[in-house]
Amino acid sequence: MQIKRFSLKHMREEAAADAATEEEKTVRSLPEMIDDVIRNYHRTELSQMDDIEVLLRQALFADYAKNEYQLLYIHSKFAEFRASLEQHFAKEEAIVFPLMLDETRRNRASWVKVMELENEHSQAEEKIWDLRQNTSYFSIPSDSCAAMQDAYRKLAVLCDGISDHIAEENGVIFPAYEKLIE
Ligand SMILES: [Fe+2]
Ligand SMILES: [Fe+2]
Repeated sequence: MQIKRFSLKHMREEAAADAATEEEKTVRSLPEMIDDVIRNYHRTELSQMDDIEVLLRQALFADYAKNEYQLLYIHSKFAEFRASLEQHFAKEEAIVFPLMLDETRRNRASWVKVMELENEHSQAEEKIWDLRQNTSYFSIPSDSCAAMQDAYRKLAVLCDGISDHIAEENGVIFPAYEKLIE
């Protein structure tokens, strides 16, 4: 068995490497942060929502007689949730992110547009809260078909990802933008 040696020098080097990684994270430019959020969250979540829509449609037809009430609830609420998110992502990509990246238009008026996004984030969080409450935190209904089980698992993952997505925009990107317009 090989014994790993930890010298003081080695520990200092590791700490310095960790600090460098942390610094890299914090010194990302605004265009990089926006690019990351589009790639890591928007594209991923759009594709997750496509999958969930197909699964819920399959479940609707397979399980309707067995589980009508829950299916009608989740099928309708998911459609509403998905539409609001798609519209929000499109607004960010088509209007607000380009505005944030335009150095000649960084002012209080652009900040108001950013605050609109924060407001929409609160509405999305409320929808997630309702979905979680009304599905007992995505507990899979008994006797449900494979599509329904898969849809619930994927919905739970999607909602967790959206919460992280919102935290990244509200907690990292918007404050970085606010500094640029001060
Ligand atoms: Fe976003
Ligand atoms: Fe957003």
